[in-house]
Amino acid sequence: MNRREAPDLRGVEATIAETGSALGCPLHLLDETTSTNDEAKHAARGGAPHGSTWVAERQTAGRGRQGRAWQSARGENLLFSVLWRQPCPPSRLPLLSIAAGLAVTDVARRAVPGKDVRLKWPNDVVLVERDATDGARSWKKLAGILVETSMIGGRADGVVIGVGLNVHTRDFPEDLARHATSLALLGADPLDRAHILADVLVALDRETTLVAGRGLGLVRARLLDWDALRGERVKSELGAGTASGIDDDGRLIVRGEDGVQMAWGSGEVHLGA
Ligand code: BTN
Repeated sequence: MNRREAPDLRGVEATIAETGSALGCPLHLLDETTSTNDEAKHAARGGAPHGSTWVAERQTAGRGRQGRAWQSARGENLLFSVLWRQPCPPSRLPLLSIAAGLAVTDVARRAVPGKDVRLKWPNDVVLVERDATDGARSWKKLAGILVETSMIGGRADGVVIGVGLNVHTRDFPEDLARHATSLALLGADPLDRAHILADVLVALDRETTLVAGRGLGLVRARLLDWDALRGERVKSELGAGTASGIDDDGRLIVRGEDGVQMAWGSGEVHLGA
């Protein structure tokens, strides 16, 4: 785990410090690890402080939600995990995952103004595309987020927020190419991972503080505006219907074909009837 000085991460500690963010300090820059979430969970057990952050150039066992793997070419993108340790009512802990999605969506939207970057429940950051002929919506994933809670004696002792944000990659492996995009492919300029990371940490600090303190109320307007699923026909292993927003507990509201409203708390959502 040697420190690597990729040109666009050089000076990243200073860039983060200038923002005054409570996150990103201490910052651990790793050349390679299994998963930055593993690093953060391990350090949480050893008493690492709130805001500790691990950034890796390569993960050998990067994880996604639903047991998926997260692949990313060495040195091209942002792979990092933040240890979040602030007072939070247990009922609001699941909302932190949505807060993290909002934070990354916010930074991505500012990096590529004019592009339709949205949040796909619960926390995928996607580019939404519309078919020119039938207007059908589809998406490409720009970032994924894996939130894991570190438990001690049945109590949440810290939350690990892991983010994979595609920055420089232009050539994705064949199996990902149709479903993935990056800030570079969307025309972001400049593309400097130090500044993007610093911006995400600031946004993450802001959104998690708001949501832990007040629930989804203060972020609801943006959730509504940036919702990739609202009004779309969706399906998951829980059923099918039309996505109609996100409730106060962070669940996806889906109006079934029979008009009955459902609230989905987990699972992978796909477009279509
Ligand atoms: C998903 O979309 O399924 C979530 C992907 C999360 C990937 C990030 S990369 C940094 C951190 N370390 C991991 O092993 N996973 C997260």
